[in-house]
Amino acid sequence: MNEKPQKIALITGAGRGLGYETALALAERGYLALVSARRWEDAERAAAKLQEKGYAARPYALDVVHIGSIIALENALTADPARLDVLVNNAGVYLDEDEGLFEVSEAKFRETFETNFYGPFHLIRALAPLLRRSEAGAVVNVSSGYGALNGMGGGSAAYRVSKTALNALTRIAAAELRKDGVKVNAVCPGWVRTAMGGSLAPRGIREGAQSIVWAATLPKHGPTGGFFRDGKAIPW
Ligand SMILES: NC(=O)c1ccc[n+]([C@@H]2O[C@H](COP(=O)([O-])OP(=O)(O)OC[C@H]3O[C@@H](n4cnc5c(N)ncnc54)[C@H](OP(=O)(O)O)[C@@H]3O)[C@@H](O)[C@H]2O)c1
Repeated sequence: MNEKPQKIALITGAGRGLGYETALALAERGYLALVSARRWEDAERAAAKLQEKGYAARPYALDVVHIGSIIALENALTADPARLDVLVNNAGVYLDEDEGLFEVSEAKFRETFETNFYGPFHLIRALAPLLRRSEAGAVVNVSSGYGALNGMGGGSAAYRVSKTALNALTRIAAAELRKDGVKVNAVCPGWVRTAMGGSLAPRGIREGAQSIVWAATLPKHGPTGGFFRDGKAIPW
């Protein structure tokens, strides 16, 4: 018998919201879910919920704005499981929802970038060696239609620009990792009922997570360097 090894997925910001739902959906598909959250107890609780359902999950503390936290995770994962098939850069903040370009502080702008851009930037660079060991590695950058230059309007400048930068990072990382068989895509989950999306959002959390799961589970020769919602390409 030549059994395929269990696939391994790391999800950031998986203590709640779309991150938790993505971890659950991947675990349901047989992945070992590496459930990370900035507070250890949130990661532990989320992983325990998956384990109670009979799924494979491990908790990790990861604050994506702290390089020391990223290095500690890199070291832990390099030791065990020593491979990564999927990295879901889900952790994100939306700090300037009700502010315009002339109201938002520079501090808030930088704070948004630390999480939404530099988090994925550091994680992709730190974990690329583990992704290269996969048969078919995949990075999913959870972006937003708000980051699309196509139709870009006013308001929420920090959030929008951070996601535009994340989209550019997606293209560059996809181009540079293509030769290693690692796909890198950006996805928009749509407007989803989470703490961030609010109660008026039209989409349920499971539906929103589907866009992320689609990109995480693409076949070996699936698309790379794209921007997708519901498995369909959308304009940058
Ligand atoms: N909801 C929507 O309508 C929508 C639309 C488009 C895109 N998105 C994107 O989808 C992703 C998930 O959003 P969501 O709706 O699930 O939001 P959410 O419910 O507010 O969850 C955000 C998650 O990010 C985590 N996080 C924030 N800063 C972090 C850090 N420094 N280190 C680690 N984790 C951190 C939070 O952890 P804590 O619990 O520790 O705060 C939480 O788990 C985000 O990237 C967001 O921009 C959402």
